[in-house]
Amino acid sequence: MPVNLFKWFARPHALLDAGVLSMNRRNLCYVSRYNKRSLLPLVDDKLSTKRLAEKAGVAVPKLLGVIQYQHDVQQLHKLLDHLSEFVIKPANGSGGKGILVITGRDGSDFVKGSGEKLGFADVKRHVTNTLGGLYSLGGKTDVALIESLIRADPVFERYSHEGVPDIRTIVFKGYPVMAMLRLATKASDGKANLHQGAVGVGLDMASGQSLRAVQFDQPVTHHPDTMQDFSALSVPHWKQLLTLTARCYEMTGLGYLGVDMVLDQNEGPLILELNARPGLAIQIANGSGLRSRLEMIETLKSGDNAVSERVTYAMTHFSHF
Ligand SMILES: Nc1ncnc2c1ncn2[C@@H]1O[C@H](COP(=O)(O)OP(=O)(O)O)[C@@H](O)[C@H]1O
Ligand SMILES: [Mg+2]
Repeated sequence: MPVNLFKWFARPHALLDAGVLSMNRRNLCYVSRYNKRSLLPLVDDKLSTKRLAEKAGVAVPKLLGVIQYQHDVQQLHKLLDHLSEFVIKPANGSGGKGILVITGRDGSDFVKGSGEKLGFADVKRHVTNTLGGLYSLGGKTDVALIESLIRADPVFERYSHEGVPDIRTIVFKGYPVMAMLRLATKASDGKANLHQGAVGVGLDMASGQSLRAVQFDQPVTHHPDTMQDFSALSVPHWKQLLTLTARCYEMTGLGYLGVDMVLDQNEGPLILELNARPGLAIQIANGSGLRSRLEMIETLKSGDNAVSERVTYAMTHFSHF
C-alpha cells in the first residue's frame, strides 16, 4: 500500500470503507489475472502501441519518423528539414523523461516549448543519447520516435503551465471505470507527472466535469501557477474520449489497462500511451476507491458487450452526481 493513500485517509479502516484498491490487490486480482503476460510487450513500447493503434484505426499522434540505429542518425537532417514542429521521444521512456518538444523554427534553430533554442547538433545529440538508453528503463538501448506535435484544446489553456495535459482512464474488461486529468505545473517542469508535482483532477464519468483536484496528494482548489479555479473545468468530447479508451480493450486484449489520452485542438481525442500496471493515485484525485466499480463489472453476466454499451454503462453507473 503506498504511504500516500494512508496519509489521505487518517484511519486504515476508513481506507477500506472507501473501497480503495491497494497495490497488492491490484497486482494479484487485476493485473496478473486479467493481463496476459504475453500481451504486455504490446504496450510497454510506444512504437508497438502506435503501430497497434494505427492498425486498429484508433487515433494517435502521427508517427513522422523512427530512428532505430546509430547509423540512421545520418538521416535525421533530411527527416527534420521540412518539419517546423514535432516531438522526439524514447520508445521505452517513462515519466516524461527524454521528451523533446519542438514548437517552431528560427532560421536553422529549433525552438522548444519553453522558448529555448537548440541547434541541429543539440537535437542530434538528444537522439544519440536516446538510442544509447539515457532515458530508457535500466539504460537499455532504445529507439527514438518522431511524432506530430499535439496542440492542447484551448479549454486547458488557463489550467496548465506549458506541457500538454493528459487524461488517464482506467479501463477494466473494456469498461472505463475512473478518470483523471493531469495538468503540468511549474513544480512538475511542464510535465503531466503527478510525482513531479502535476495536479491530478478527478473527473465525473458521466460528463467529464471536474470533481476535486490534488497536488502532492493534498487537495487544491486552484491551479498553483495560473490561479484558475478547477470547479469550472470540464473535459469536452467526453463520450468520444471514453469510446476511444474502451476500444483499447479489443485493441490490446488487456483486461486491466491505464489509457492516457490527449485532446488535440484540431484532431480531438488521441491515444498517447497505454499502461498495463496503472498507478493508484487516480483514487486520491477522485476521492473514491476503485474496488466497488471493478467488482460491479466482475459480476456482470452479459459476457462481452459492445463498446457503446460499455461506455453507456460507465456513464450511468460511475457518475458522482
Ligand atoms: N506529441 C506530443 N506533443 C506535445 N506534447 C507531448 C507529445 N507527446 C508527449 N507530450 C508531453 O509529454 C508528456 C509525456 O508523454 P508520454 O508519451 O506520456 O510519455 P511518458 O511515458 O514519458 O509519460 C505528455 O503528458 C505531454 O505533456
Ligand atoms: Mg505518460
